[in-house]
Amino acid sequence: MSYQAEYQRSMNDPEGFWREKAQALPWFKFPETILSQDSDGIYHWFADGELNTSYMALDYHIEQGRGDTLAIIYDSPVTNTKTTYTYSQLRNEVAKAAGMMASLGVTKGDRVIIYMPMIPEAVISMLAVARLGAIHSVVFGGFAAPELAVRIEDSQPKIMISASCGVEIKRVIEYKPLLDKAINLSSHKPQSCIIFQRPECTAPLTAGRDHDWSALMAHAQPVAPVPVKGTDPLYILYTSGTTGKPKGVVRENGGHAVALNYSMDAIYNLKAGDVFWAASDVGWVVGHSYIVYAPLLHGCTTIVYEGKPIMTPDAGAFWRVCSEYGVKALFTAPTAFRAIKKEDSEGEFLKQYDLSKLTTIFSAGERLDPPSQQWLMDKSGKPVIDHWWQTETGWGITANLQGVEPMPIKLGSSTVPTPGFNVQILDESGQELPRGQQGYIALKLPLPPSCLATVWGSVEKFKESYLSMFEGYYASGDGGYIDEDGYVFVMGRVDDVMNVAGHRLSTGEMEEVVGSHPAVAECAVIARDDDLKGQIPIGLVVLKTGAQINEAEFSKELAQMIRASIGAIACYKDTYIVQRLPKTRSGKILRKNLRQMINGQEYIVPSTIDDPAIMPELEALLSSKGAKVGS
Ligand code: COA
Ligand code: AMP
Repeated sequence: MSYQAEYQRSMNDPEGFWREKAQALPWFKFPETILSQDSDGIYHWFADGELNTSYMALDYHIEQGRGDTLAIIYDSPVTNTKTTYTYSQLRNEVAKAAGMMASLGVTKGDRVIIYMPMIPEAVISMLAVARLGAIHSVVFGGFAAPELAVRIEDSQPKIMISASCGVEIKRVIEYKPLLDKAINLSSHKPQSCIIFQRPECTAPLTAGRDHDWSALMAHAQPVAPVPVKGTDPLYILYTSGTTGKPKGVVRENGGHAVALNYSMDAIYNLKAGDVFWAASDVGWVVGHSYIVYAPLLHGCTTIVYEGKPIMTPDAGAFWRVCSEYGVKALFTAPTAFRAIKKEDSEGEFLKQYDLSKLTTIFSAGERLDPPSQQWLMDKSGKPVIDHWWQTETGWGITANLQGVEPMPIKLGSSTVPTPGFNVQILDESGQELPRGQQGYIALKLPLPPSCLATVWGSVEKFKESYLSMFEGYYASGDGGYIDEDGYVFVMGRVDDVMNVAGHRLSTGEMEEVVGSHPAVAECAVIARDDDLKGQIPIGLVVLKTGAQINEAEFSKELAQMIRASIGAIACYKDTYIVQRLPKTRSGKILRKNLRQMINGQEYIVPSTIDDPAIMPELEALLSSKGAKVGS
């Protein structure tokens, strides 16, 4: 089948297209309603179907005779541990973990927050929540206590699951104090917490609230999968928007299973039994979709890797894993490739491993810069495929569909729209722009299965954040263009969201933290391009009149405040003290101009600027402080 034929069918007859894709999965009750709209006008897929995602991802494969196939390979260079789980073993653990949660009162629709490092118990917990028809919300282990607290407050979990610690390259990070602090900060209190004690550190348990994972599991009774509706939520995953408060993206069971299972064939070209490795973290959407759900729904073996691309122990780490387990497709973020390239520019490590089973390398999370893409293709001899997606969609919006029709790679492009996604480039007024012209990337409604159904707790917020900018479209927040051949080029965010090492962070949220320092009158946090991490934040700060500070100390204090409020992953280090910030006459800070200036790009100041002299003044000041600027 050609790409064009597949894509056009998804556009001309979306219901027929997705009904057919849904037939590949074992529903308890196959949906009669494929696409529908609710009273708020929001589209949903497979509303009256009945399924259980944990059943589809585990029990079904055992029924098909794949019980002895490996489901998970856990490889942890930071703890020197390797373990495997067959589908039968994993199902048994998941059924027991579901029983453990049920014994604490978790039932269908309840929320469970999972705050864990990259260990199999994180995956087991997610699948166990799904088995009960409950809703998980996984919080990335690198987030600090206040970030966790916001998610507790918003999702109101009945229970929380955590581990005693995470293990980073240089240190063991105790999770329990962060968990306790977050619960203290939140007005909502979970009834119980289950703590998985790791040998690297043992956490003291709070009597009456905390339970030891192993002690509960020892007596837990396995439970059967609970049927849910296609539109019942599987999970909430919080993501940074432009405001200080993250948004809870709600993913529904039915559409999620169908789209992810389809993507394993269409995008990644994988079959049951193949080994797939998404080198990410379960705390991010890539981890949800491609460490956990998609490979397991498809009967593949997935790798849970607790390590880094470099330093665990060297820049050959990824190639060692690919070779050792016969990985067929590898998926990670460009920052990982850049880290490897920096340490091993000649690709010497690549040569040491047998990568004959590796057919394709996939990249997402941020734009894959052409030099890194070319370098990796040259050194590995494999196609390196960029694909564009978001937490909100849960899978690739544009891709080079290896299982449909592999297309020529164009450096810098994430290729063509994935079937189901009607990708358009619009101008500010919502008019479609011709090929080659850069604008807002928008997706014409309805979105295909798996895309967010709402923002947790507020359909109004969903509409306001995504649907109100362009009538009849989902506004992606990204800008870019489509070329004459229909290839999509995603050039970056058009809003104040930044991307640090593939992690999406809100500049607004960082500004709230910086602005809370007693010496700060006002501030702007801007994304500066970075060779390794893509972008890193820097702060421009105007001090309160009379504030007495030591500049170096002050900068350290702000960095520490961001670490404590958001997490070390924000990588906030540099602060520049300025006299004033450029603003429009109505008082809006000209962040886009600042971003362009700080990155040495040309910028055109709007006529609404209150004082045009400020930009050259600021440029001179920042240059004198060693910042790279200049139009
Ligand atoms: N729990 C706690 N802390 C964490 C953490 C976690 N899960 N993950 C990262 N951190 C901490 C690190 O310890 C580090 O802290 P430090 O400043 O005290 O040293 C900080 O957050 C930054 O970490 P990281 O972004 O990993 O930077 P690094 O310089 O240690 O490593 C890379 C650089 C490129 C190797 C690393 O960024 C990387 O592997 N990136 C890939 C990201 C990725 O897979 N993204 C997936 C999105 S699809
Ligand atoms: P997240 O929701 O954290 O996965 O971040 C999604 C954002 O990351 C998108 O809106 C883009 O800005 C960026 N992104 C992800 N993948 C790509 C890609 N392949 N090319 C360009 N930007 C990307």
